[in-house]
Amino acid sequence: MLKTELAEVETRLLEVTSAVPPDIAGMLRGIIDSGGKRLRPALVLLSAHLCQAPLAQAIPIAAAIEMLHTATLVHDDLIDAATLRRGKPTLNAHLSATPTVLAGDLLFARAAVLATEGQNLQLVRRFSATLEIICSGELNQFFIGRGHLPTCDEYERRIFAKTASLFALAMETGPHLAGSPVQQIAELAHFGALLGSAFQITDDVLDFVSDEATLGKPVGGDLQQGLVTLPVLIYQEQHPEDTRLSVLLHAPAGAGQLREFVADLYTSGAIEAAMTIADRRVKEALTILEHFPATPYRRAIEEIATFAVQRPY
Ligand code: IPE
Ligand code: IPE
Ligand code: MG
Ligand code: MG
Repeated sequence: MLKTELAEVETRLLEVTSAVPPDIAGMLRGIIDSGGKRLRPALVLLSAHLCQAPLAQAIPIAAAIEMLHTATLVHDDLIDAATLRRGKPTLNAHLSATPTVLAGDLLFARAAVLATEGQNLQLVRRFSATLEIICSGELNQFFIGRGHLPTCDEYERRIFAKTASLFALAMETGPHLAGSPVQQIAELAHFGALLGSAFQITDDVLDFVSDEATLGKPVGGDLQQGLVTLPVLIYQEQHPEDTRLSVLLHAPAGAGQLREFVADLYTSGAIEAAMTIADRRVKEALTILEHFPATPYRRAIEEIATFAVQRPY
């Protein structure tokens, strides 16, 4: 359905490789070409179709949002010292921190240029505000998020900042470009936020239940790095007497201690409970779409929403 438009998005993404030295260009091409799911640009294009917005403006915005996402992954993998992404070595696996940071910055800069090509000042403003939310969320996670048991509220704020905010932006592109009423902008942004938070909860669950070969990125790192996600929050709420988590979070844990805790987490039902919350969010999101015409584009958005919580990777 979106084949031609997504192909144009790919072309726009690859333009960034022409502005850098050949060695870096090859690595950037590798990251861009290595099979990300492209959910965010697909949502941008579908929201444009849903609202009958001009596609010539939506395509650069779709590329801008995917480029912004790619830049956050480059920096995220450096911060996490992750060596695999989309089944390929990360930039930081090849390069020291300085060129990795600079390459990430370059992608952010290109994303900003692409965002202006949508020719819509309101969207440029929303794009910049979203980037600010993502960065301040990552700073929060770095300085107070690790080694700390968050409240549910803190966890919600974290996943909104890191992931749901960008899904919201993707979904509100269509109504912005179509000049739709503010009510529709708010509804589709809310849809994107619900979908994005369900998507991040699923990502947090996959970090426990999947494997590196399937995901194309390392697993088990969240808790190991002191990052408490929803399954752990639920487990701890159900077992307030279990003091192992606070020990794990306060001292560098032995692999054995961590494995034992995770084994109990698996049998506790906390993983299933986290997925129930994600499923419920997608269901709630789908009710918002009922206010929009039942076209094949709406159907495709519904399919992506369902995939977000059922995906293997
Ligand atoms: C990974 O996002 C980072 C998160 C927000 C969880 P995706 O799972 O969309 O990554 P790609 O683009 O498909 O590789
Ligand atoms: C990534 O979230 C979100 C951003 C890059 C802002 P994660 O840290 O959960 O992503 P993965 O698991 O490394 O893909
Ligand atoms: Mg990460
Ligand atoms: Mg993750």
